[in-house]
Amino acid sequence: MLCLAVETSCDETSAAIVKDGTEILSNIVATQTEFHKKYGGIVPEVAARKHIEVINPIIQEALDEAKITFKDVDAVAVTYGPGLVGSLIVGVCAAKAIAWALRKPLIGINHLEGHIYANMLAQMTNDPLDRARGQMTNKSQKSKIKFPFLCLLVSGGHTMIIHVKDHGAYEVLGRTRDDAAGEAFDKVARVLGLGYPGGPIIDKLAKEGNPDAVKFKKPMVEEEYGYDFSFSGIKTAVVNYVARPASRVTRHEDIAASFQKVVVETLVEKLIAAAKDKNIKTVSLAGGVSANSGLRGYLTKRAKEEGLEVLIPPFEYCTDNAAMIGCAAYYKLKAGITSDYKLKPTASLKL
Ligand code: KG4
Ligand code: ZN
Repeated sequence: MLCLAVETSCDETSAAIVKDGTEILSNIVATQTEFHKKYGGIVPEVAARKHIEVINPIIQEALDEAKITFKDVDAVAVTYGPGLVGSLIVGVCAAKAIAWALRKPLIGINHLEGHIYANMLAQMTNDPLDRARGQMTNKSQKSKIKFPFLCLLVSGGHTMIIHVKDHGAYEVLGRTRDDAAGEAFDKVARVLGLGYPGGPIIDKLAKEGNPDAVKFKKPMVEEEYGYDFSFSGIKTAVVNYVARPASRVTRHEDIAASFQKVVVETLVEKLIAAAKDKNIKTVSLAGGVSANSGLRGYLTKRAKEEGLEVLIPPFEYCTDNAAMIGCAAYYKLKAGITSDYKLKPTASLKL
């Protein structure tokens, strides 16, 4: 089954050809970072317009790289939420038009579900260093995921611990009460004058810094908060620390490392506590922040200590991409779930 998948929920225009759910024949991602950089964040109207400009060439490139034509496509999948509504509309309209013209099934996919399915695309080797670097095992180890597992979904808009019981069966155990983890990375980077998007920049700087240089307080670790998170306090703590003339530590590397350490440890310890409480033996990562090397390394280490199995998507499938949407769509189609032409782009779609 060859699926043409389209993803335009935020500022990446992506199209992929996915064979039988897990074999990626192509996965083209055009990022708009260049256009949003000067504003220090994504401008929704600019994002929507840029999607319109590149959507057709990106889809054509995905077909070309997979060495197929529209005639070979068996189904068309598309992200229909959550995300920026103007951006979502572009992908959904393109997918509807193609599905209609080809008389093939249309499958609307929840972006968050797509991120979870990135774990199906390939699994990491058991070597912690390889995991941190994002190396994949060979093809034979693909899609060996067994349910149930817990997924820590950390992106620019979401931070959740999800109990994945089966295909399409989710229970959200905890979520952020304010900022998402990725948002905190982006805001801290902005305050330090480091540029946008902040996550990858902080990740890189943190490697050169001392994580114990500044003792930022871990947020919401008290039992009453359960598996919920809060990242606006830590963000403000960093902002205040940087602004105070008397602050001892001034190296950006040390501040980045200290901030990242608190975020990573908070995320991982809650995930592990949830796995123990629920007696679930496998934990996984998803979403843009799962590209963070500190998070990948610390989760791998802690899971090993706790005897848990870890699934970590390769780097390229952590941030927004259409391959993960094509993967999720395969399992929907297998379950007989398709969408009709009324499929509506939904900015605040729930899991
Ligand atoms: O999943 P994603 O690509 O888009 C959303 O659905 O939001 O996630 C984007 C977020 C941004 O906040 C970005 O700064 C963060 O993921 N991110 C990272 C890293 N790479 C991307 N955060 C920390 N470390 C990284 N290496
Ligand atoms: Zn995303």
